[in-house]
Amino acid sequence: MPSTVIVGTQWGDEGKGKVTDLITKDYDYVVRFQGGNNAGHTVIVGERKLALHLMPSGIMDENAVPVIGNGVVIDPGILVEEMQMLEDEGISCKNLKISCDAHVIMPYHKDFDGADEKRLGENKIGTTNRGIGPCYQDKAARKGIRIQDLLDEKIFRLKLETALSQKNPVLEKIYGLAPYTVDRICEEYLPYARILKPYMTETAQLLGEALRNNKNILFEGAQGTLLDIDHGTYPYVTSSSCCAGGAATGTGVGPTAINKVIGIQKAYVTRVGGGPFPTEQRYVENGGAGEEAETGEALCKAGHEFGVTTGRKRRCGWFDAVIARYAAEVNGLTDIALTKLDVLSAFDTIKVCIAYECQGKTYDYFPMQQSVLFHAKPVYVELPGWKGLDLSECRSFEELPQNAQDYVTYLEALSGVPVTIIGVGPDRDQTIVRGWKSK
Ligand code: IMP
Repeated sequence: MPSTVIVGTQWGDEGKGKVTDLITKDYDYVVRFQGGNNAGHTVIVGERKLALHLMPSGIMDENAVPVIGNGVVIDPGILVEEMQMLEDEGISCKNLKISCDAHVIMPYHKDFDGADEKRLGENKIGTTNRGIGPCYQDKAARKGIRIQDLLDEKIFRLKLETALSQKNPVLEKIYGLAPYTVDRICEEYLPYARILKPYMTETAQLLGEALRNNKNILFEGAQGTLLDIDHGTYPYVTSSSCCAGGAATGTGVGPTAINKVIGIQKAYVTRVGGGPFPTEQRYVENGGAGEEAETGEALCKAGHEFGVTTGRKRRCGWFDAVIARYAAEVNGLTDIALTKLDVLSAFDTIKVCIAYECQGKTYDYFPMQQSVLFHAKPVYVELPGWKGLDLSECRSFEELPQNAQDYVTYLEALSGVPVTIIGVGPDRDQTIVRGWKSK
């Protein structure tokens, strides 16, 4: 029963989508286990680029069953829209399975997300404003509404009534926003329920049976290790378990069924939203100047670092081995897919952070106190680059320029995990497979 978890090892946007597309053909099921439409994944269909936010990327492979697990939060309007968009492109959604236990993002969750960020002002988290946090908040508080509640109008109305009796006063009195009526939400959500009903199922049971039948399962993580609610840079995190362990709780598959964990690691680091980022090369608008700002701009430009979901310019910085080691540990990585190595062709020399310094202490491990991360000064090793050399045609490790090979083996030694896939360009085939095996 071979099964693999794909996780981001940094702050998301490491290029998980491309690696998922590349290896999906080896799997019978592709399962989202956390997050919601805060994720963004671009898929190429013929000449067109489509942005997926909620749909597992297995939807692009007609032989794989795409599954949305119980750990995901679902905005039904967005899901219906995405399904429609895919069907219009000739991509069938008929195999999609949606967990009845997944929680539903309600309109007031989106209101709370925006209003909370406004209230936090300069200290805002920089959320995607999709209602993700408030939905998980209700789930943990045992006040959430689940996909299965949409199946019975009577139950849905009852749950909504209870929810609104608490939400409306907060919306009105604390945030000065308009309240909701049960009728208004039913009018919007019940038609979605009718469309989604044929796809709703007991996904934990489905996956258990798949494993018993020796089917291959790919668990597709969204966001990344440092955005994990437990292991990330709290509170500048998302509200779900993005690490490999989340694949078990977010789907109902036991942890012993997982035998590979592939960490997606960008050859440099990016982050969107607020929070500490030791190797950040700040833009002028964020307080950077001179070489720092130039490096940040060069990484952003060469790597096209703009969010798929929000369009925001991502913050960019040099590779951070302290984070890499931490991610290897908390996810139990068996493999690393190193993405966007080609972007570093823009530089004469390349810096790698191997430790942090803070108040006279050196940290080569992830610091216990987040304040250290805010004030950490990176300790860099500067490596020779391969400026101007085009990596996009390389299909084997040996075809890479020597300095690029040395960079990869150096990162590998720093994290202690083999780099078995290397991305050298945006297209699926611009990839070096270096020992990756799905089984
Ligand atoms: P939320 O998930 O919308 O609540 O946002 C919380 C934090 O996670 C913010 O810093 C977001 O920018 C970040 N975030 C959420 N989803 C993604 C993603 O898919 N990629 C990168 N950052 C993300």
